[in-house]
Amino acid sequence: MEKILVLDFGGQYNQLIARRVREEHVYAEIRSFDRVALSEIERESYKGILFTGGPNSVYDPDSPRYDPRILDLGIPILGICYGAQLIAAMAGGEVSGAENGSEYGKTLLKADDPVLFRDVPAESVCWMSHTDFISSVPRGFKVLAVTDKCPCAAMGCAEKKIYGVQFHPEVTHTACGKQILHNFLFSVCGCKGDWDAADYAARAIESYRTRLKGKKVLLALSGGVDSSVAALLLHRAIGQDLTCVFVDHGLLRKGEGDFVENTFRKRFGVNLIRVDAGERFLRKLSGVREPEKKRRIIGEEFIRVFEEEARKFGRVHVLAQGTIYPDVIESGKGASAVIKSHHNVGGLPDTIAFDEIVEPLRDLFKDEVRRVGTMLGLPRELVWRQPFPGPGLGVRIIGEITGEKIAALQEADAIFREEVEAAHDGKRPDQYFAVLTDTHTVGVMGDARTYGYTVALRAVSTDDFMTAEWSRLPYEALERASSRITNEVPGISRVVYDVSSKPPATVEWE
Ligand code: XMP
Repeated sequence: MEKILVLDFGGQYNQLIARRVREEHVYAEIRSFDRVALSEIERESYKGILFTGGPNSVYDPDSPRYDPRILDLGIPILGICYGAQLIAAMAGGEVSGAENGSEYGKTLLKADDPVLFRDVPAESVCWMSHTDFISSVPRGFKVLAVTDKCPCAAMGCAEKKIYGVQFHPEVTHTACGKQILHNFLFSVCGCKGDWDAADYAARAIESYRTRLKGKKVLLALSGGVDSSVAALLLHRAIGQDLTCVFVDHGLLRKGEGDFVENTFRKRFGVNLIRVDAGERFLRKLSGVREPEKKRRIIGEEFIRVFEEEARKFGRVHVLAQGTIYPDVIESGKGASAVIKSHHNVGGLPDTIAFDEIVEPLRDLFKDEVRRVGTMLGLPRELVWRQPFPGPGLGVRIIGEITGEKIAALQEADAIFREEVEAAHDGKRPDQYFAVLTDTHTVGVMGDARTYGYTVALRAVSTDDFMTAEWSRLPYEALERASSRITNEVPGISRVVYDVSSKPPATVEWE
């Protein structure tokens, strides 16, 4: 399989670079510069290497560096931003601090090169974000592009197949960024572009079929996208040798437990054990108000329930998990083993003995996991399910959690989701839900005074959930949701809409 190395120097767009490469049907893997040795790079026979950006100046004594012999391996290289400056510095060029100010934002790029800028207009918009710049290119290199402020917006040495761009081709603001990356991959590296997430999954199924033959495999299914796709993929490979344990902690959304059970057991014939542990979780949570304590209790209890189920199996050979590529990268461990709790609430069961862990999605990005899910026939509602925190409604009920509160929130949340979905045929908010606050307010119903709870509605748009904007929902949708919630859900006398962005607020209330 042809593959590209994304050598990570700490840039904020490193995952985006790898995704763009994969969009060109070339497999890309991200490795931190300090975790991959030159000898390993040689051994892996990469078709090309991308140096990412980074926060430093190449002249900082602590700035990330790499063995300069990487430039002599004969592997094509494209440096981006800091990566380009690093190539210049390593190869004997010069990098200077920008005297007339840094460049930030959309900038007019004037480019001229038949290889890297093939099919790119002589003038186009690129995205800049830098202070230092390459003031003198190394011997053998040519300046391939400039901007008004930057005398070297791109450089290259066609003979050594080494290039550098000061701008960011991976962000969509760079009009021809996709074309430039395409040129690098296909014209410079000579890639064929035969990688595809769905084919990859099909091959994985074949290989698991042999590798896991006759072994007992256990997977904690949460109903989230990742564990659902992992479950189906393994089910295709080993059928009834896979057992999924679905712990219903009673803090799921309305109807969700039944939906997950029906989908997997009835529709796909997956060997599924559903554990209805709602009462048990409620007992543990009784009287607890502090958010982190709730999280901890839910996480720990989850593991205990899962362990108890697993013990009924006797020996478990393989524990399967829905870890995906961003989890692997974010753990900072690169390609070394990473163990994520099945749905982010606890840790890994510590009293189950197993021989190996299998993570069938550990090389895939979220959008690729969704592609695989679609290929495997997973229903749309699951493939495009909005994120739902592991501790579930437990962190959406402010204050103490009781059975009545869960029931009220499930109803209010279902109504709100229905109204948002009815109002949006196109792009919906990325996450939308109701929160049951701990505040009672006075209301009036008929001639009587009421004193019910306040429900808060939350809807956000976001790319990565690190930052988020509150969604401008149509007033009519809010009105319908509010009126239905106060009419249909007993005990709720007021509905408010959350207009806080993240930061400073978070998406969840707890
Ligand atoms: P915050 O509230 O941190 O949420 O802005 C960002 C995203 O993470 C989800 N979230 C969680 N997911 N376990 C999870 O698996 C958790 O404890 C948890 N807390 C927040 C949240 O729903 C949003 O998508």
